[in-house]
Amino acid sequence: MQRGLFITFEGIEGVGKSTNIDYLAGLIEAHGHPVLRTREPGGTPIAEDIRRILKEHGDEPLPDVAELLLLFAARSINVNNAIRPALTSGTWVISDRFTDSTRAYQGGGRGFPVESIEWLAELAHGDLQPDLTILLDAPVDVAMQRADRRGEPDRFEVERAEFFDRVRQAYLQLAEREPDRFAIVDCSRDLDAVRAAISEIAEALLLNN
Ligand code: TMP
Repeated sequence: MQRGLFITFEGIEGVGKSTNIDYLAGLIEAHGHPVLRTREPGGTPIAEDIRRILKEHGDEPLPDVAELLLLFAARSINVNNAIRPALTSGTWVISDRFTDSTRAYQGGGRGFPVESIEWLAELAHGDLQPDLTILLDAPVDVAMQRADRRGEPDRFEVERAEFFDRVRQAYLQLAEREPDRFAIVDCSRDLDAVRAAISEIAEALLLNN
């Protein structure tokens, strides 16, 4: 049985991850591969409970280190209970965010050292790395305008533009460091142009798999 491919989508809020994930999943399924769609934090019942804790902002503050550890706790559950079993059975997995989000948000945004994040990543998912990461990129002001239209902001969305700018720059640096794994799609363009870019990526991927 051939292992499924592991594809992740990354980017700051408002770049249109959900729509583009739907689109790519449709193309892959039409080609005959089963696809599991998942998201982080979340993806399994326990990990979704952790997602709720991470996103809501009540009276009690959540220290940055707790945020980091909860993200990896949720990830280890999702990897163990959903992602790895799917890949092993030949199902392709598309995840809305994975460890690059932690590198960008907790590393770039909150300032945690790379070594701590990589140590936790190794502990949580060992050698599991995405085969392909699609970075949906747009300037922060463009993305924030779109995200603003989605109602009540969660604990991450209340951050200021400077925070998201650091996150975006961290993503771009990650992509520069691993050009073979990353594909950057400019999402400041209209949806048709973005879809054309996703189609091109899918064609190359499906040609070889
Ligand atoms: P979203 O997937 O609906 O955008 O919400 C997830 C939020 O969690 C988003 O604001 C980014 C944040 N996040 C991190 O800060 N670090 C992570 O590792 C992950 C997976 C998400």
